[in-house]
Amino acid sequence: MVLEMNTKENILNHLREYGFVIIPEYWSSEKCKQALSEFKKLPQQAFEGGQGGDLRCQHSNRYLSSSNEFLNDTFIQDIADNYSLCNRADRVVAGIVKYNPDRQTDSGGGWHVDSESDAQLKSFMYLTDVTSENGPFVFVQKSRDLVNKLEKHSNLRISEELVREHVNPEDVIEMTAPAGTCILADSTYLHRGKQIESGIRYTYTTYFYE
Ligand SMILES: [Fe+2]
Repeated sequence: MVLEMNTKENILNHLREYGFVIIPEYWSSEKCKQALSEFKKLPQQAFEGGQGGDLRCQHSNRYLSSSNEFLNDTFIQDIADNYSLCNRADRVVAGIVKYNPDRQTDSGGGWHVDSESDAQLKSFMYLTDVTSENGPFVFVQKSRDLVNKLEKHSNLRISEELVREHVNPEDVIEMTAPAGTCILADSTYLHRGKQIESGIRYTYTTYFYE
């Protein structure tokens, strides 16, 4: 899925209407390769386990120039400034979701929202091609009002049953895309990382705070 849009206004309009926007070819494949080779040099101790069994290096921007570049991206910063007060780029998490035949693995640990505030922007960079098999980001468009009505359990997780009951399947967007795709998403909308079925997924994620 590729949206033919790249002007700032188009991006902001889509973000405001649907809660996300996909910007194709934001980084070249060459740039992704360079970032990935840097990323892969991070020592194992730099990572902690995420709620879905994925691996996260919290402040990768302190160690990797490509990650720091993503943190300080002026185009994305401009979008963030115009979107909400949640516009302070705090850190870039370097994330690995790797298939493990012995246990279910995803990024995020099931359906959830990151916060119950008015808005929380996140910026994702897919460093490798992401298919339906290697744990794509899954997002429920236009779910901003719906999430207020859904019961949340520990850590703002929302049960699969409730999602099945209340969400129109057409609004569930599985974000499969090639390396270099940038996704901006408001993480106060319903989302999850799909369980990985094979392979590995590498991403950078910028967290914005108020
Ligand atoms: Fe999340």
